Amino acid sequence: MSDVRALPTLDGPRLRLRPPELADLRTTFDWYNDPEVVAPYDRFTVDSFDDYARAVAAAPSDPASLAPRYVVELREPAAVVGVAGYYRAHPVLELTDVWYVIGVRDARGKGYGTEAVRLLVDHLFRATALGRVGATVDVENAPSCRLLERIGFHRDGVHRSGLFHHGRWHDVAVYGLTRDEWASRPPASGGTAAGAPPAR
Ligand SMILES: CC(C)(COP(=O)(O)OP(=O)(O)OC[C@H]1O[C@@H](n2cnc3c(N)ncnc32)[C@H](O)[C@@H]1OP(=O)(O)O)[C@@H](O)C(=O)NCCC(=O)NCCS
Repeated sequence: MSDVRALPTLDGPRLRLRPPELADLRTTFDWYNDPEVVAPYDRFTVDSFDDYARAVAAAPSDPASLAPRYVVELREPAAVVGVAGYYRAHPVLELTDVWYVIGVRDARGKGYGTEAVRLLVDHLFRATALGRVGATVDVENAPSCRLLERIGFHRDGVHRSGLFHHGRWHDVAVYGLTRDEWASRPPASGGTAAGAPPAR
């Protein structure tokens, strides 16, 4: 998994996002198929551990990959509590969406999801020329919607009946945060300003 190392570690006040190592894969794989972790808002399942390991290893060289690019690791006490990533979300438009799961239930409600997404957004605006970072969320997933809005994402619209899971179609909220909005966010939002994009 040497190419995974091409992704930089992202350091926050209480946690870091780092590329997955082999030792992380079993725990994070189990979250995918645990209805207590992912349900009721999504339909993610992964069929085999080997497929999962291959997808994680290939993710850094595939902008559209949905596999985890990062594990969310607490500094104190040291523990992996989640996974996160981003993916190219449209074949023509320059849309990249973030995603995130705090897989350890006891670690939820402590601000770790918020910190992880802030780190991801900050990284994407620093490392790419993107004008916008997005996210799509089942409208019924109130914790995730609140998390995005706390960070400063705007609800740009809704894909009505955009996702089928648990036996019916679900409306999906489309969230976006522009580079200008991120650069002019209040200091309490964390991080230092990532204004100008790198040269393309
Ligand atoms: C959505 C999800 C990632 C949120 O993660 P989380 O770590 O619980 O989120 P946070 O702790 O940052 O925020 C949750 C609450 O904790 C509160 N909180 C507690 N301490 C906090 C702190 N130090 N800093 C910030 N928020 C804090 C927040 O205010 C927030 O409250 P509210 O949402 O009731 O207003 C998590 O519920 C999850 O993994 N869900 C399943 C997967 C999923 O739905 N992923 C998103 C798919 S789009």
